Amino acid sequence: MAKKSAKYVCQSCAYITEIRMGKCPDCGAWGSFVEEVIDAKTKVKTVKSEAVRIGDVKYKDYDRTSSGFDELDVVLGGGIVEGSLILVGGDPGIGKSTLLLQVAHNLTNLKKVLYVSGEESLSQIKLRADRVGAKNSDIMLLSENEISSIISALDDYKPDVLIVDSVQTVYDENISSAQGSVSQIREITNKLMHIAKGRNIVVFIIGHVTKSGTLAGPKVLEHIVDTVLYFEGEKNNVFRLIRAVKNRFGSTNELGVFEMKSDGLKGVENPSELFIGNRPKNEAGSAVCATLEGTRPLLIEVQALTSITSYPSPRRVSLGMDYNRLSILLAVMEKKIGIVMNNFDVYLNIVGGVSVNETAVDLSVVAALISSYRNRPIDEKTIVFGEVGLAGEIRAVSEADKRINEAKKLGFNRIILPKSNMPKNKEGIKLYPVEKLGELIDLIFS
Ligand code: TYD
Ligand code: MG
Repeated sequence: MAKKSAKYVCQSCAYITEIRMGKCPDCGAWGSFVEEVIDAKTKVKTVKSEAVRIGDVKYKDYDRTSSGFDELDVVLGGGIVEGSLILVGGDPGIGKSTLLLQVAHNLTNLKKVLYVSGEESLSQIKLRADRVGAKNSDIMLLSENEISSIISALDDYKPDVLIVDSVQTVYDENISSAQGSVSQIREITNKLMHIAKGRNIVVFIIGHVTKSGTLAGPKVLEHIVDTVLYFEGEKNNVFRLIRAVKNRFGSTNELGVFEMKSDGLKGVENPSELFIGNRPKNEAGSAVCATLEGTRPLLIEVQALTSITSYPSPRRVSLGMDYNRLSILLAVMEKKIGIVMNNFDVYLNIVGGVSVNETAVDLSVVAALISSYRNRPIDEKTIVFGEVGLAGEIRAVSEADKRINEAKKLGFNRIILPKSNMPKNKEGIKLYPVEKLGELIDLIFS
């Protein structure tokens, strides 16, 4: 018999404790503990397992199916892998159900798809299907919340693809914790993992990410599933960015760019054009950077605004880039080129809701800051990229060629880049290598 005991479980990171605490010692969340009954498993495993020499392990290439969206296939590492469990996370209302309904529809040519919704009624899903052009689709719909009923539906329909919308609304009767609690969603996900592997079917799980509140975030599921996709960006923006933060079948940090239209999500073919499309002409504080998102280059606009502060300590706001990196860059600017922002509020924004976690953006951030500080626009056909070191040195970044080609493709004719990144082929574009931060100032305004 399994023993049952009550414990307190942090709903944001799944930390378990015997006593109720106000603040989670692991993730620092306040008031996040909920009492849950945890089954202590006393079963002893008796099956013998054997180790295999790595040289003797045979593997076959993964069978992949296209999702019908090139952008999504790239993020997945080349398509959907048979028998994989894919978690799609994001804020409520960002477009998770829309995306998976469209994917389900695209897959119906080749596969049997079962879409289980614990969240919406069948007619609500039908309405959405009408919008995205899946009016007469062969997708099978099931409105159900209990995992064992879902499993018996699987036996009936034998689908190749199962979509569960959302993991927070499905529960297991054998677990006494509330629907949506950490214990529940973890158990449900484990069961779905067994289904994916045991029946070799693709399982998509939708998970809501809530910044606050009691619903457990899918963070605790990341280590169970094969692939984790997150929607980034703002709900109010038309662009939706999908990033793989974990992928057992491909590289992570690939970015897919989508646009939310009145008839569903559409992949954006040339994201660079989109991100720098509405750039203000001849305005101070705007710089364009060539970044790399996974394997693909992406041009983005970096905007800075510096204004005399009316606070005792100046404000620093950074959207889309690490706040600490902005502080470092401001300190390097002060020490190495004598631009002191002590009396200035500094606002930094990467346009379009993208977040950049690449050091190549450093030099363009400094360029945008100087441009705003001096109130002089940067030459509009100039691209700036490079890492800035603490000594004010400009350091090389990866894959400069890709960045330069993307800049050329979109009609830029000047590039300011780290000296150590100078390519051999300099045709068709003017390149300005820099070694020290001080050299940047003259170049951006010429
Ligand atoms: P939804 O997929 O329901 O979000 P989630 O499942 O992540 O909570 O999408 C919600 C938003 O998308 C909603 O505000 C309406 C908008 N939308 C469109 O703009 N066009 C469309 O074709 C559809 C289906 C939704
Ligand atoms: Mg939804």
